Amino acid sequence: MIKDSDRVVVRGLRDVAAAETRLSYVDVNGFLYYLGYNIDDLVERVTYAEVAYLLIHKQLPNQQQLDNFRTELRFAMKLPDPIVDSITRTPKHCHPMDVLRTEVSHLAEYDPENNDFSDSANMRRAIRLIAQVPTILATVHRSRLNQQVPEPKREFCFAQNFLYMFKGVVPDEAETNVIHRYMSLHADHGFNASTFAARVTASTNSDMYSAVTSAIGTLKGPLHGGASEKVMEMLDDINLEEEVEEYINGLLDDQKKIMGFGHRVYRAQDPRTKHLRGMLEDLSHRDRTLGLYRKCVKIEETVYGRKKIYPNVDFYAAVAMDALGVPKEFFTSFFAASRISGWVAHVIEQYEDGVLLRPASKYVGEFNRPFVPIENR
Ligand code: CMC
Repeated sequence: MIKDSDRVVVRGLRDVAAAETRLSYVDVNGFLYYLGYNIDDLVERVTYAEVAYLLIHKQLPNQQQLDNFRTELRFAMKLPDPIVDSITRTPKHCHPMDVLRTEVSHLAEYDPENNDFSDSANMRRAIRLIAQVPTILATVHRSRLNQQVPEPKREFCFAQNFLYMFKGVVPDEAETNVIHRYMSLHADHGFNASTFAARVTASTNSDMYSAVTSAIGTLKGPLHGGASEKVMEMLDDINLEEEVEEYINGLLDDQKKIMGFGHRVYRAQDPRTKHLRGMLEDLSHRDRTLGLYRKCVKIEETVYGRKKIYPNVDFYAAVAMDALGVPKEFFTSFFAASRISGWVAHVIEQYEDGVLLRPASKYVGEFNRPFVPIENR
């Protein structure tokens, strides 16, 4: 047992390995691996459903397995009626992440296998969550427009159905490619804060809905998944490309952080950025996207010039979401709709590990304070 005085506090748990994982590896030198596959070898060659399958089954599916998985996901996209009713009754000003957090927790009440915590029930639960989180978002968005969510189409793959159900119109080929790449790139990322939150909850042997609810609350913060919404606010604030330098220098002079920049692990470029940039180049025939993209490139140059830091996944993702016609208040929830596959895979891995995640703290408070009765305070 370590003596209290010998305890070392690792502020922010920087570089602390809290558990082993086989799911993904975030390489400080700017590489990202899912189950051993470099994401550069996956993106553009797989659909998001294949990545989700890889994360929960730990191997890529063959065609038959993928077809079955897509069918399973499509059927699981249907929400229980009380969840739909609850979503339609939420005030329209509520942030979609608040609604998502509540409704994922609410789903636990309608779990068809409520008291079954076997491995097979947890796998089915994981698949239901991968399918239902996107439907919750589509329902929030369409109900605010007083419109129905269309039924998922048999001939569409999962990510394409999500975009179709969210927007209510069939996505074109370029949009379908973007949503697959976006969701695949956001699917997992080592022990990021929300995944860690999910694993802490799962480590108490709590249920998967509780773990994912913890993760959603953690992702929402602007230092994590909330950054992309802030990026779009910044882009909206900068009227012209020519104003970028002055705007960014002003923020940095005031010691403010630039949203969508910096990373706890990477000391080189975030490997996801080049893929996101590439997607935008594919959509650059759209005037608005091209304009935003140009501002982003200028911001990237300015921030690098001053701070020698690179954009992270949330930076160009904001423009990708905008190009897909997703309102900025939904950006973080699209991240959640993709990261759900990583979260549930980590929850399953944590159950397999079976150890309680419970760190120590270093007490720096007082001892033996004299007690004063309330009438004398
Ligand atoms: N803007 C300006 N300076 C920055 C930024 C930034 N976005 N990020 C880091 N720095 C500076 C920081 O001021 C410090 O400089 P100095 O050494 O001169 O004091 C240095 O870089 C190291 O930063 P840090 O705060 O020690 O880094 P951290 O590992 O504690 O924080 C971070 C990582 C992601 C919270 C931080 O970079 C940040 O707040 N970024 C903005 C929010 C953001 O984009 N979040 C998304 C993160 S990635 C995707 C995700 O997980 O969702």
